[in-house]
Amino acid sequence: MVREWDSRTAPSAEIESLLDTLNAVLAADLPEDPLWQGGSLREYQSETMPGERRISWVAEEPSADGNTALVGHVNVLLLGDIGVVELFVHPEVRRSGLAHQLLATAVRRTYDEGFSAIGVEVVGGTPAVKFYESLGFEREYVETRSVLKLSTVDWLAVGEMARGIATGYRVEFFPGGPPDDLIEAYAVAKAAVREAENADLDLRPSSYDPQRLRDSLTCLHKRGMKPYIVLAIHEKTGAVAGLTEVVVPAHHPTRADQYDTIVVPDHRGYGIDRAIKSRMLFELRSAEPKLTDVQTWNALDNEPMLKVNAELGFQPDREWYEYGADVPALLHRLDPKT
Ligand SMILES: CC(C)(COP(=O)(O)OP(=O)(O)OC[C@H]1O[C@@H](n2cnc3c(N)ncnc32)[C@H](O)[C@@H]1OP(=O)(O)O)[C@@H](O)C(=O)NCCC(=O)NCCS
Repeated sequence: MVREWDSRTAPSAEIESLLDTLNAVLAADLPEDPLWQGGSLREYQSETMPGERRISWVAEEPSADGNTALVGHVNVLLLGDIGVVELFVHPEVRRSGLAHQLLATAVRRTYDEGFSAIGVEVVGGTPAVKFYESLGFEREYVETRSVLKLSTVDWLAVGEMARGIATGYRVEFFPGGPPDDLIEAYAVAKAAVREAENADLDLRPSSYDPQRLRDSLTCLHKRGMKPYIVLAIHEKTGAVAGLTEVVVPAHHPTRADQYDTIVVPDHRGYGIDRAIKSRMLFELRSAEPKLTDVQTWNALDNEPMLKVNAELGFQPDREWYEYGADVPALLHRLDPKT
């Protein structure tokens, strides 16, 4: 049975059941990834940025112990002019049409809410690729995920890289997020790079104005994701010349996510990328003793950044895709009566 579900008010037993299903999915599809640890799934699902809404459904089944188990889940995050879907089904009940049913429910609501575009992030080498392609989703953007095992890091070499920045820049570390007096300069740097390289579908919330940036940091904290920032400041102007952002999520505290690393075009060629990423590794090593690895995502054509990641010891692991579909056409495919 599929029913609408509110993570904010759901009984704890349902959150636990969903966590079990999510971990069964991870073990089946991404066995090399850390499992989700309990405690923050409710917050992770419930918190959104101002102006965004997440609507969720679950599929439940009687379980062996006489209770019910949540064996499938879909949610759509309505953000800007696109609905972003997350969908998973327990490996033991796959290929029985459940995902099809869950997706049809979410897409119907997305349509009713007036959205005409829908997107989804899909991990390469998993059954989700065939599932979405069979429904006519188009692959719009490809990234490579790379993973760095901290046990393999050559700390002496990384120390050299951290120091190899041109004069005129200083590098600073900010656990928790950039301080308020740097938020403006931080947003300017993000906007400058975004303008130069607009490519993906905007499925992940990103922030280019100071207030949105503040909101996004608040939202990260509430979702149980601890941000760490390293900035390169151009001393003469006070401009943020480069930044790198890492998040350590409460749901997998052994693996950090390196989100965004940017060097503003005017400041490229001064060793900033290497310096900020290597400084970040040193800071993480002392701030997060449980951390064993860091993962990051890069566009295939971003050769300079891939080169620096390789020097640091990141190993490419999987492709990561963004797929998109037109809502009315998808709805018709999911339910030909519409
Ligand atoms: C993708 C996923 C949702 C599909 O769930 P499902 O309930 O098995 O899907 P359905 O039974 O509704 O499949 C519908 C159609 O999709 C296609 N499909 C689904 N799985 C497929 C597979 N493994 N191989 C080929 N086609 C597949 C088929 O066309 C299928 O129709 P058919 O069974 O009549 O041939 C499920 O595999 C899943 O949960 N994957 C993990 C997704 C995720 O979020 N992962 C995040 C961490 S990796």
